[in-house]
Amino acid sequence: MRIIPRIGLGVWQIPDGEIVRNAVRWALEAGYRHIDTAMIYRNEKGVGEGIKAGNVPREEMFVTTKLWISDQGYDSALKAIRASLERLQLDYVDLYLVHWPFADEEKTQEKRADTWRGMEEIQRLGLARLIGVSNYTETHLEEMRSYAKVMPTVNQVEMHPFLYQKALAEYCATNGIQIEAYSPLAHGEKLNDKTVSKIAKKYGKSNAQILTRWALEHGFVVLPKSTHKERIEENFDVLDSKLETEDMKTLDNLNENFRTCWDPY
Ligand code: A2P
Repeated sequence: MRIIPRIGLGVWQIPDGEIVRNAVRWALEAGYRHIDTAMIYRNEKGVGEGIKAGNVPREEMFVTTKLWISDQGYDSALKAIRASLERLQLDYVDLYLVHWPFADEEKTQEKRADTWRGMEEIQRLGLARLIGVSNYTETHLEEMRSYAKVMPTVNQVEMHPFLYQKALAEYCATNGIQIEAYSPLAHGEKLNDKTVSKIAKKYGKSNAQILTRWALEHGFVVLPKSTHKERIEENFDVLDSKLETEDMKTLDNLNENFRTCWDPY
């Protein structure tokens, strides 16, 4: 069974070239073994170079990329993964995700089924070890039962205390789908929240570390993004700070359906 390292570096909005190369290299030096990119982030090339520079054995690494909306469809999916692998300079990714449930055109339901057949073929060919989805709602996941031979291993969604998607998390847990939390720091927009600050003070941790820890406590894989070495290190240094049940409840109650990205519902 393929193990997914629980903390990964998210690289959305990190420019290609030196900036992303450095971020990946610093992450690997800090102990990360999981990097999460996507075709549409336009930094797969730099991510691949950063991984190479990090010199970590390939089998220890866990690399994710994603299929963009315009690449939905059976043939396009196969073409897209090959292009991503070429940019990443890898023979396979550990996880390939359908980035969004909708396509560029009208027949999105048919497209989803076609795309997923492509994803299953990608896995069969060994181009991706695991396949999954991103931004899928319970409805999209239920619909998959009608066309999927292999159900997704992962659903990567926006998740943090200010957008605690409890029903979706429970649905995924019941159905054996791992939640990966993107924008776990609410895109940096809630880092000065008073309640988070109070809890951070109690544990002697930073606010970012409390938000990262919250996701881990819920059993989510967590993907904080940073371009700064010290923050990349800080976000990984959360393994010794178990939050008490009461504090978890307080953080859960911060939910206000605050989305920093598109709403798939
Ligand atoms: P930067 O990349 O300049 O470090 P999310 O992962 O939720 O999308 O949040 C990313 C945002 O949070 C970015 O703006 C990032 O800025 C910032 N950030 C990441 N880690 C930390 C940290 N430890 N402390 C403060 N801000 C952080």
